[in-house]
Amino acid sequence: MFTRIDHVGIACRDLEASIARYTAMFGLTLLGRETNDAQGVHEAMLHVADAPGGFSCVQLLEPTRPDSPVGRFLDAHGEGIHHLAYGVDDIAAALAQLRDGGAQLIDDQPRHGFGGSAIAFVHPHSTGGVLTELVEAARPQPSNVTLPSGLPG
Ligand code: CO
Repeated sequence: MFTRIDHVGIACRDLEASIARYTAMFGLTLLGRETNDAQGVHEAMLHVADAPGGFSCVQLLEPTRPDSPVGRFLDAHGEGIHHLAYGVDDIAAALAQLRDGGAQLIDDQPRHGFGGSAIAFVHPHSTGGVLTELVEAARPQPSNVTLPSGLPG
């Protein structure tokens, strides 16, 4: 079902400080920043390595408001790993397979994710306590990573 680890989502209180840490400490490349109002997050995607069907990343998440899911996570747990995301070729087929297998889905239908991707979450109750995300990358896939010009930072 899975083609790669698409990203690991990490909750943080200061997105810019976290970007600086991950780029300086690990040499990761900042692909871009987005604000997702529906999910209540400012996010940044940092490239780790190319992988089948896309690439693997670290996703840094700062809440836009305290009552958002990531805001509540920070209150309860502090900064740290928030979710694990797997890449899939066909998110609708993956969701159907999981639903048929009895998994508890948070999203019955895919929603919009970073960079035009389609994403859906599986409840931690079904995965041994890990909030799990499926990612179908936007098409067409770039053959390699190119940084858009004019990105801040
Ligand atoms: Co994510």
